[in-house]
Amino acid sequence: MTAPRLLVVDDEPDLRTLYELTLLREGYEIDSAGSVAEALEHLKAGSYSAVITDMKLPDGSGLSVLRWLEQAGRPEKALVITAFGSAENAVEALKAGAYDYLTKPVDLRQFRLVVGSALGRVVPEPAPAVEDGATAPATALRLVGESPAIRAVRSLIDKVARSMAPVLVQGESGTGKELVARAIHDHGARASQRFVAVNCGAIPENLLEAEFFGYRKGAFTGANEDRQGFFQAADGGTLFLDEIGDLPLAMQSKLLRVIQERSVRPVGATAETPINVRILSATHKDLSAEVAAGRFRQDLFYRLNVIQIRVPPLRERLEDLGLISARVLARIAQDAGVSPTPRLTAGALQTLSRYGFPGNVRELENLLHRALALAGGEWIAAEDLGLPDALLDEGRSESQFAAIDTPLPVEPVAEGLTLPEQLPGDLARYLDEVERAILLRALEQHRFNRTAAAASLGLSLRQIRYRMARLAISAGDS
Ligand SMILES: Nc1ncnc2c1ncn2[C@@H]1O[C@H](COP(=O)(O)OP(=O)(O)OP(=O)(O)O)[C@@H](O)[C@H]1O
Ligand SMILES: [Mg+2]
Repeated sequence: MTAPRLLVVDDEPDLRTLYELTLLREGYEIDSAGSVAEALEHLKAGSYSAVITDMKLPDGSGLSVLRWLEQAGRPEKALVITAFGSAENAVEALKAGAYDYLTKPVDLRQFRLVVGSALGRVVPEPAPAVEDGATAPATALRLVGESPAIRAVRSLIDKVARSMAPVLVQGESGTGKELVARAIHDHGARASQRFVAVNCGAIPENLLEAEFFGYRKGAFTGANEDRQGFFQAADGGTLFLDEIGDLPLAMQSKLLRVIQERSVRPVGATAETPINVRILSATHKDLSAEVAAGRFRQDLFYRLNVIQIRVPPLRERLEDLGLISARVLARIAQDAGVSPTPRLTAGALQTLSRYGFPGNVRELENLLHRALALAGGEWIAAEDLGLPDALLDEGRSESQFAAIDTPLPVEPVAEGLTLPEQLPGDLARYLDEVERAILLRALEQHRFNRTAAAASLGLSLRQIRYRMARLAISAGDS
């Protein structure tokens, strides 16, 4: 394996030497440049694993090196070194596509860590278990939908997954904000590391500091041993701060400090521990309004909101209802050991699309859970959804009734039909017997839910009722 090649850009010869020495010791190959022009010369002549550039250069800004890389579609990871306390520069660099940034004066330990992380070399020892650290398989968590809105979200996820830039995911509750955060993690270089999700609103205020930063034995009554916080648990991976808008102001300040310093001090500890964590956050609140109202720190908002992803409410992407429902039903059916996965009739899908879904995908999920239990068969009809009758009947005239309740799609029938050896002497009676047996079998299979049994036979509820009455079949009400 050849050593990764790095390009270091800084106009200060002493600093250049310091960076070079540090990186050489890590086993990298180094080229260096003192200006934007020199950097571009090197880049045009060959490729690198990463470019580390100072922000302020004699003939321009480090950002122009970033822009050049971006425009040329180059794969080099870019790291930017900014002046201390200049949040603007750091945020601007991340927005321009930098993988990460470092602040001056550069802490060499952190320098090695950040470079290693950019090159995918950081493999911290696995953290001991904390709740919800488990990484779910990426395939089970796909964000389904083909609407322009959800496609845009997916392509943004792909784009931001490869950097360290903080992402704020905004959207109404139940829209899939956590799914988006997990997708960012799963598509990035940290996928094999931990994804730690924290619900900021669910932790009592007096425990926040200990939960986030950990504590040392004896730090307070009951602290019988050292304990890691969320930051340490997520080291090398991703920390997802859910409902960030619920974080109290005092804790916001502490969080801001940790983000700036990239190190945490556990409660009761004297020394700081460096950490390398990517921060993603989510909220259903309008954070800029929270800032305006004085409930959220402007500077923290600025740091977390480097890239924003808005997850649209379900009612803005109704064309995805069919796909999302199918995915959700497949998951529920699998969990419940139901096979084959029940499907929605065309009428059910139409009824769903008339509903506003104030609770978004989460509400759809709950609704399908109930409907599946209620329908108990292969098909879920409009009646099984438990939605108000007004939605069921709307736009449904007598003539449309049967069509709407017909399962979708229609599958070929009557294959392998066997005739009796002796032809029946009374055809009408014989057919009634056959129909009766089939209806009973269908009803049994669907636990006497007539709607589902009807749907499985390609009948509407009215049609099966009629046939049951005619053949004097009585079944428990459904
Ligand atoms: N596009 C989608 N495809 C499939 N499932 C989805 C989709 N969007 C959301 N879900 C599912 O809907 C549920 C809610 O999603 P998630 O928890 O990510 O939403 P949220 O915005 O974080 O909700 P809350 O505000 O309640 O925390 C999850 O079970 C998720 O798997
Ligand atoms: Mg959530």
